[in-house]
Amino acid sequence: MQKRTFLVTGASKGIGNATAKILGAQGHTVIGLARTAPTEPLSGEFVAVDLLDRKLLKEVLADMSSKYKLDGIFNNVGLVNPEPAEEITEEHLNNCYHVNVSVALQCVQAALPNMKEQKWGRIVNTGSLTVVGVPFRGSYAAAKTALVSLARTWALEFAQYNITANTISPGPIETELFNTNNPPGSESRQRYIDGIPLRRTGTPEEVGEAVSFLMSDKGAFITGQNIFVDGGSSIGKSLI
Ligand SMILES: NC(=O)c1ccc[n+]([C@@H]2O[C@H](COP(=O)([O-])OP(=O)(O)OC[C@H]3O[C@@H](n4cnc5c(N)ncnc54)[C@H](OP(=O)(O)O)[C@@H]3O)[C@@H](O)[C@H]2O)c1
Repeated sequence: MQKRTFLVTGASKGIGNATAKILGAQGHTVIGLARTAPTEPLSGEFVAVDLLDRKLLKEVLADMSSKYKLDGIFNNVGLVNPEPAEEITEEHLNNCYHVNVSVALQCVQAALPNMKEQKWGRIVNTGSLTVVGVPFRGSYAAAKTALVSLARTWALEFAQYNITANTISPGPIETELFNTNNPPGSESRQRYIDGIPLRRTGTPEEVGEAVSFLMSDKGAFITGQNIFVDGGSSIGKSLI
């Protein structure tokens, strides 16, 4: 297997960290971004950055794309503000859109010159089960749906360069993010678990394996797709 260099946002914990470890174990170089360092070093470089800081992210990406030939991006970082429609503020909406969507766009733009030149590249966005409709997730689901749409657009724009673009949409996965927003005993947690045909939450590694497949040569003919890794939760719900 050819060794590649992948950038992973939100690489310190949860799904991003599990994916970084899987890619690292396959011999790839992983450039990880997050505010706090992962507990174990990545198989590449970790850069501490608050992705809400647009100027700093621009500098970090300029630095990373000059230092490394980026072969692919795992747009994993996400921000969720669980709230009913009446309580969504412009600030929440903008921050949610920025962390989920604008950061992904900036990362892809940083890797595009190399991916286009070498005619090989991989983009995996992280969507969410909420794109099929989940109450009190308005700003988050809107941002995640934008990522699904961007992957479809990019799949068409970049196909001529042999760059694939897909979205992985996790269902309830046991991570800090999920546990904070759906604490044990909460109504929302129970609602999620009741809606999972496999009757359990997923693990970050189960998502990471799907991402690593799309990042590999084995996933070369899959592009523009939104793949749910959700224990079947999205089945029977209206799909976008
Ligand atoms: N868990 C689920 O059930 C689930 C379901 C659907 C979709 N997702 C999506 O999956 C992705 C990963 O979620 P997760 O559950 O793995 O979350 P997590 O365990 O909370 O990890 C989030 C990662 O993002 C980093 N991060 C968060 N805000 C950041 C910021 N402002 N700047 C830099 N790094 C930041 C965190 O690191 P630091 O705190 O160190 O900065 C951490 O590495 C997200 O896009 C999420 O929306 C998750």
